[in-house]
Amino acid sequence: MKRYSVIGNPIDHSLSPKLHNYWLKKNNIDANYTKIKLEKSEIKNFIQEIKIQKIIGCNVTVPFKKTVIPYLDKLSPESEQTQSVNTIISHDGLLVGHNTDIVGFQKAIQNTNYSFENKKILILGAGGVVPSIILALNKMNVLKITISNRTKEKAENLKNQFSNIDILEWGMTTNYDVIINATSLGLKNETINLDYLNIAKNKLFYDVIYNPSETNFLKEGKKSGNQIENGKLMFIYQAFEAFKLWHGIEPIIDKETLKLLNND
Ligand code: ATR
Repeated sequence: MKRYSVIGNPIDHSLSPKLHNYWLKKNNIDANYTKIKLEKSEIKNFIQEIKIQKIIGCNVTVPFKKTVIPYLDKLSPESEQTQSVNTIISHDGLLVGHNTDIVGFQKAIQNTNYSFENKKILILGAGGVVPSIILALNKMNVLKITISNRTKEKAENLKNQFSNIDILEWGMTTNYDVIINATSLGLKNETINLDYLNIAKNKLFYDVIYNPSETNFLKEGKKSGNQIENGKLMFIYQAFEAFKLWHGIEPIIDKETLKLLNND
């Protein structure tokens, strides 16, 4: 039986095994997918196990999306540009790092039916997933991307990487069409200190978090008459793309798939 896994720390919360094992079964593939909690010092040896095909492929989550890069033989152009790898595949004896978060975000946005063209976008946060979101937004012909992060230095580092972004002080809001929460605030029911009353209607509030399905950030967005969307589809589509890379099959996304991830 072929082995696949997701590595991260913490990893308990990960729903990737549920999703991948569901799709493996649906497609009669003799493989299984597990979650593995690693320490940073264990990454090198773990990657070696993929090299010798003890494990055929793996997903990488927080905080190792950058850590794995030096141990890989090749990066996809998107992984190179974002310095972020969430999927590893062994190809002709070479370990290749891919980033399926970008297309995951793009497909999730397409699904909202909210047009991003010529829109002003505010991203809250500057963590691991943000370069992928910026790269995806750059492909959507948005008007302006602004980053606001508690630690300003991290936003400034992103600006060195993507010169087209602006930086806004943490806690400020002006007139944006789309606000994306890419911080971890909301996972434990925290609120984000924004002046929601200042935000006009008909905006899109997007949260990368999908569990809980409605963070306080999304609740506030809804209350002020805006469209809201959580990160569930982004999660599903990044997994969809990883599955396609490993197995050459497009797995099904149906009601049952969505139900699998209802955790709250
Ligand atoms: P990392 O920063 O290690 O990549 P992450 O989970 O990808 O981790 O990102 C966490 C994001 O949530 C960061 O933007 C972080 O802000 P800082 O860069 O200032 O740490 C943000 N975040 C986490 N807790 C926060 C809090 N209490 N208030 C504001 N922002 C917070």
